[in-house]
Amino acid sequence: MADISVRIEEFDVVIVGAGGAGMAAAVQTGMAGLKTAVISEVYPTRSHTVSAQGGINAALANMDEDYWIWHMYDTVKGGDYIGDQDAMEFFTKNAPKTIIELEHWGMPFSRTEKGTAYQRAFGGQTRNFGESIAHRATAVADRSGHAIVHTLFERTLRPDIVQYVSYYSEYYALKLLRNEEGTVMGVVAWDMVNGGVHIFFAYATILASGGNTRNFRTNTNAHVNTGIGWKLCAQAGIPIKDPEFVQFHPTGIYGVGNLITEGVRGEGGYLLNAQGERFMKKYAPHVLDLASRDVVSRGMATEIREGRGVGPKKDHVLLKLDHLGKDFIMDKLPGIWELAYKFVGVDCTKDPIPVQPTAHYHMGGIPTNIHGQVVDWDKDNKEVPIPGLYAAGEVGCGSLHGANRLGCNSLLDLVITGKEAGRHAARWILDEHPTFPNPPEEFVADKYAKDVMDKLNELFDGPEGTVKMDEIWEDLQDTMQADMSVFRIEEGLTRQLARLDEYFEKFKKVGLSDKSKVFNTELCEYFDLENMLYVSKIETVAAYNRKESRGAHYRDDYPERDDANWMLHTAAYWKEDGSVVTEYKPVRQKPLTAPTFQPKKRVY
Ligand code: FUM
Repeated sequence: MADISVRIEEFDVVIVGAGGAGMAAAVQTGMAGLKTAVISEVYPTRSHTVSAQGGINAALANMDEDYWIWHMYDTVKGGDYIGDQDAMEFFTKNAPKTIIELEHWGMPFSRTEKGTAYQRAFGGQTRNFGESIAHRATAVADRSGHAIVHTLFERTLRPDIVQYVSYYSEYYALKLLRNEEGTVMGVVAWDMVNGGVHIFFAYATILASGGNTRNFRTNTNAHVNTGIGWKLCAQAGIPIKDPEFVQFHPTGIYGVGNLITEGVRGEGGYLLNAQGERFMKKYAPHVLDLASRDVVSRGMATEIREGRGVGPKKDHVLLKLDHLGKDFIMDKLPGIWELAYKFVGVDCTKDPIPVQPTAHYHMGGIPTNIHGQVVDWDKDNKEVPIPGLYAAGEVGCGSLHGANRLGCNSLLDLVITGKEAGRHAARWILDEHPTFPNPPEEFVADKYAKDVMDKLNELFDGPEGTVKMDEIWEDLQDTMQADMSVFRIEEGLTRQLARLDEYFEKFKKVGLSDKSKVFNTELCEYFDLENMLYVSKIETVAAYNRKESRGAHYRDDYPERDDANWMLHTAAYWKEDGSVVTEYKPVRQKPLTAPTFQPKKRVY
C-alpha cells in the first residue's frame, strides 16, 4: 500500500474555493469569530475571479437615472424568464450597497469627472424597462475582477478577521463528507505540495469552487475550472440545477478563447462579418451589439454557418474598436489591448480583433435558496435545505441568471451570494449550535475517507494504464465544442452521449506514470479529467432532455421557447450506475416584494 499520511482538521466552517465568492464568505465567518478554513487549488489572488474584466452591475445611477427594479427587469428578461424572481430581486436590490461597501473596503473604481465610480454600458442593460441603454457596469478599467479579488483578500487579512481564517492554498478537494442522515460535515482534500490526505470536519461547508467550462475546446476559463464542485455534489447524491444552460461569450480571441470584454462593445466597439457588414442589426435591431450574450453569440454563429465568416476557414468575425482612439483604449481597455497583442499580434488601436464565441459560464449549478443553503426537493417538489451545506458564486445556482446571464452580473453574484452564504452559515452555527451526530474522534479515515484512500492507493500502486489522459481530454474538448455548443440538435447530442460513455470506459484504463506524492500534477490532472467528464455528461443529458430553446440553450430541432411545457428547472441526479436522471422542478416566479415579470417574447 502506498504510504499516504492522513490528517484530521476541525473547523467551524470550511470553504472550498478562494475566489471572490469564497473570500466574501470568509469575511463574514471570520468576522463572526468562527474558525474558518479556505481551501483552494491556487493561491487566493490567482483564483479565476481575477480574470473578470468588464465590471460589476449596480443601479448606482452615477451616469444616468437608474433603479434596481430596472436592473431586475433586465435580469429576468436576459434569463429568458426561467430565473427565480425572489433571488433576482434580492440580488439586484442589494447591488448598490454592495458596490459602496467594496469601495469603502478600498476597491479602486475608475472615476467619472465628478469623482464617482465609472459605469459603462453592457449587453442587455437598459433603463426604464427596455427604453434605452443603461450605464450600470461599475468598472476598474477592464481589470475589475483583479481589483475585487485583491479588495476581498485584503479584507480577510484584517487582524480581527485573519485570526480566524486559515488559507490552505494548493489543496485539491476530493470528497464531500455526508453522513447517513444527509448532513454535510466537511470535505476530504489532497495536499498538493506535500502529498497526504486532510479530512476537514466543519459544521458548515461552503462550496465556492467557481465555474467549469474547461471541457470545451474554446473557453475563457482558468485551468482549475474543471468542475470540482459539481462532481463532489453529484457523487454525494446532490442534484445539479439547470446544467444545460452553458453561456458562450461572444468575444473570445479567435483560436485561443481568452475573453475580450463585452465592455469593448459597451464603449462603442462593434462586430463585422467578412463583407464588412455590421450584422447585429439583423438579430437585434434596437440595441445591435448590446443585445444579451446568447443573442449575439447566435448572431455570430449564424454568420459563420451561412458562409459570412472571416479568414481562410471563414470561422470567425471581427471586433472593431480602433475608432475609439488610442488614448481611450489605453485608459479604459488596457487589458484587452495587451491580450490581443500578446495572443494574436493585433494592435487593436489600429486593427480589429478576430473573435469567436467561447464557452464562458454556467447559469446552472448546485441548487440554493436565496441564503445560499444548498437545497434538494422533497416528494412534493418543495425545496429542502441540506444541513451544513452552502454554495456561492458560479458553482451555485440560486437561479439569479435563469437561462442566460447578463454581463457583469457574475461579479455581483459572487460577492452577494458569498456574503449571504457566509452570513447565514455563521448565524446558523451561532444560533443553532449544530453538533455532529458522532464525536469527532470517531471520524477516522477508514470510515469517512475509505473510498478516497482506496482510489489513491490504486493510482500510486497500480500500473501506468493503457490509455493516456490526453487521448480522452483532447477528444472531449473537441466533441463538446462540436455538439454541445451555441446550436444543438438531437442527432449531435445523441452522438455526444455515446462518445461520453466511451470516454468513461477509457477513463477506467488510465493510470499514473508519476508516483511521486510531492506536487504530482499528473494526479491532479487525473481528477481534473474526471471532473470534466462528470460535468460533460450532466450537461449533455440535460440538454438532450430539454426539448425547447431558451436563453443559451438553443435547439435547432425545437427552435421556440415553450413556456407551456418547459417553464421548469432541471434537477439532474447522478446515479450509482453512472447514469444521469433529470427531474423537473417549479420556478420561483414570485419576487419578494416586486410584481412578477410575466414571460414575453424576448427581443432586443
Ligand atoms: O465581458 C466581460 O467583461 C465579462 C463579464 C462577465 O462575464 O460578467
